[in-house]
Amino acid sequence: MSQIESTPILPTSATLPVGGQNAGAAEETRSSQSLDTKTIVYKSEVMKQLMKMIDRVSPSGATVLVLGESGTGKELIARAIHDRSNRRNKPFVAINCGALRETLLESELFGHEKGSFTGAYTRKIGLAEAANGGTLFLDEIGELSPGIQAKLLRFIQEGEIFRVGGKDPIKVDIRLISATNRELDQEVTRGNFREDLYYRINTITVHSPPLRRRKEDIQLLVEHFLARGSHRILNRGRQMSEEAMKILMRYDWPGNIRELQNVCERLQILADGHTIMPGDLPENIVNPEQKIVTDDYDPTVTLYELEKRYILKALNYFDGNKTQAANALGITIKTLYNKLHEYGEFEKYAVHSKPVK
Ligand SMILES: Nc1ncnc2c1ncn2[C@@H]1O[C@H](COP(=O)(O)OP(=O)(O)OP(=O)(O)O)[C@@H](O)[C@H]1O
Ligand SMILES: [Mg+2]
Repeated sequence: MSQIESTPILPTSATLPVGGQNAGAAEETRSSQSLDTKTIVYKSEVMKQLMKMIDRVSPSGATVLVLGESGTGKELIARAIHDRSNRRNKPFVAINCGALRETLLESELFGHEKGSFTGAYTRKIGLAEAANGGTLFLDEIGELSPGIQAKLLRFIQEGEIFRVGGKDPIKVDIRLISATNRELDQEVTRGNFREDLYYRINTITVHSPPLRRRKEDIQLLVEHFLARGSHRILNRGRQMSEEAMKILMRYDWPGNIRELQNVCERLQILADGHTIMPGDLPENIVNPEQKIVTDDYDPTVTLYELEKRYILKALNYFDGNKTQAANALGITIKTLYNKLHEYGEFEKYAVHSKPVK
């Protein structure tokens, strides 16, 4: 699997129909057989706002930091910005900063001169140089080591790079777009990420919302992935049943759009009939393990229910040891007993062992 991708010149208007209200309709202008990896599919208000923001930001040339959980489409957003900028006919080069160790990353990013280290048999042009005139997308920028952070800062400030082992600075003109699923401001506070670099890379910050905050997009996305995914030939116009769609809408999608995409690919290959039924869906989606604490408020869960689940989880965690569980929960053993009685779970935990499920 390649960890570094570089995308050649992309003509925009043909590849990115992101026209607001109904991206699905705009898409119809494309061949229905093509594998589509660039269209941003959405109809939710939060995505409409985001796309407006992208429209505004793209032509400016400002550095952009894309924040969001894994699989929310950060790279897609970076490409969209590039494709709508006046650099669109120049390269868009992406590199995953988390995938390479420091020395390798430096030479991938900035290149190296012949003989600069063992194994450097030829001169190599780095990705920053390859992106000259275009956009450099640094994915997982939160993973950068302090050494590379310093070099990157210098590059942004001076607009020039040094190849590893090189003595002469080389002028390189790029627009920088970065992304991370970390809370980068907190990494700055913790001293893991340079503050000066942080301010340089986030002239504009864009938030890519998790899928659970834009569930209205699920249906369009499913249609898109079933019709346009890698195994589209196998799909033969398969549709999602209403019941199966309800289950997809109920699920929280911790892996976001990538997880939904994977599920759709699997359905393209494995689903039996013409209509996808609940039984065709993966078990973990139909019966997800109930999450105990989420960052999001869930209007279907009462405080009582949340407390109960949390206490039972703690007991399971400590293999039924009530003293340990009570200590960890910060309650007395007596309170724990009372709660278990209340829940009608006392018998189950009467002996010190994990209950059989
Ligand atoms: N709105 C969308 N419409 C269509 N496809 C999408 C959308 N958002 C994401 N995708 C697809 O979902 C997959 C994940 O997106 P992407 O790689 O951009 O996410 P990411 O946030 O960069 O993830 P990671 O943090 O894991 O690197 C890609 O295949 C992308 O094409
Ligand atoms: Mg990514």
